[in-house]
Amino acid sequence: MSQKHLRFQAPDARGDAHGGLDGEGRSASKDREPVSTRFLRVLSRGAPPSPRRFEAPEIYGRAAIRRIAAALPPVERAYANVRFSILRPKLLSVMDLLLPDEGRILDIGCGFGLFAAYFGQTQPARRIVGVDPNARRIAIARRVCTSIGLDGTSFIAGDARDVPLEGKFAGAYVLDVMHHIPEEDQRPMLERLRDLLLPRGVLVIKDITTEPAFGLEFTRLLDRVMVGWREPLSYRHHREWGEMLAELGFHVRMVRVPDILPYPHVVIAATKRD
Ligand SMILES: C[S@@+](CC[C@H](N)C(=O)[O-])C[C@H]1O[C@@H](n2cnc3c(N)ncnc32)[C@H](O)[C@@H]1O
Repeated sequence: MSQKHLRFQAPDARGDAHGGLDGEGRSASKDREPVSTRFLRVLSRGAPPSPRRFEAPEIYGRAAIRRIAAALPPVERAYANVRFSILRPKLLSVMDLLLPDEGRILDIGCGFGLFAAYFGQTQPARRIVGVDPNARRIAIARRVCTSIGLDGTSFIAGDARDVPLEGKFAGAYVLDVMHHIPEEDQRPMLERLRDLLLPRGVLVIKDITTEPAFGLEFTRLLDRVMVGWREPLSYRHHREWGEMLAELGFHVRMVRVPDILPYPHVVIAATKRD
């Protein structure tokens, strides 16, 4: 292969060093460094430059998703495939980058543990604690994470509004759950999450905003198919969430993430002020 082609090779996502050529087509081996560069490095006693340290892996880990799907029973596997196709690479990557890469992280309304298993694999130093009132889903979530080998992940069956939770968390995420919480309980639940976070802890909320109206009605219909007609569905406009979180003492940023389907996704990053 010519040097021109080698220059544009896709690097290994694990960041393994292979030697080879650097971005300028030169040999990356230390021996080939100009004498002046080596001399300056010896003088400054600096670490050798590591061009691969800041590689960007493909956060949308297909292998991670395959492992999760393989660990699920057939019906839940089908659901997982739908869920991962709704929360596409863009959404997953945004949330992955917003969440702390280590420490205790709460997954509120974790369901079958799909995202605990996903975010636990993308950053193995995360210790995720999933909470969901559905005991059957919690049992499946435990099984999935055990079979993947995510030992630091744990699950609790209970209602996020009042389940006992010990200690503080570096982060928390609530993926498509806030609109399943009755309207009058939404603010107290966010207040509770704030109190569970460490200072500067980040709360990531992914939900559905209320505009455009067609997108909301599309989502409502699919939610009704999932939960039936009796459960409350309490969507709010993203500005309302923003104001509420700011009043609760969070610094708030948010993005709307477009989709091929008309879901009006919004991702909110709320950082607890010191
Ligand atoms: C649409 S599912 C989302 C599941 C998961 N977060 C995901 O993104 O795949 C909503 C989940 O919220 C859970 N949920 C509903 N009310 C809850 C509550 N009060 N506390 C914790 N979880 C709750 C449900 O049991 C369900 O698993």
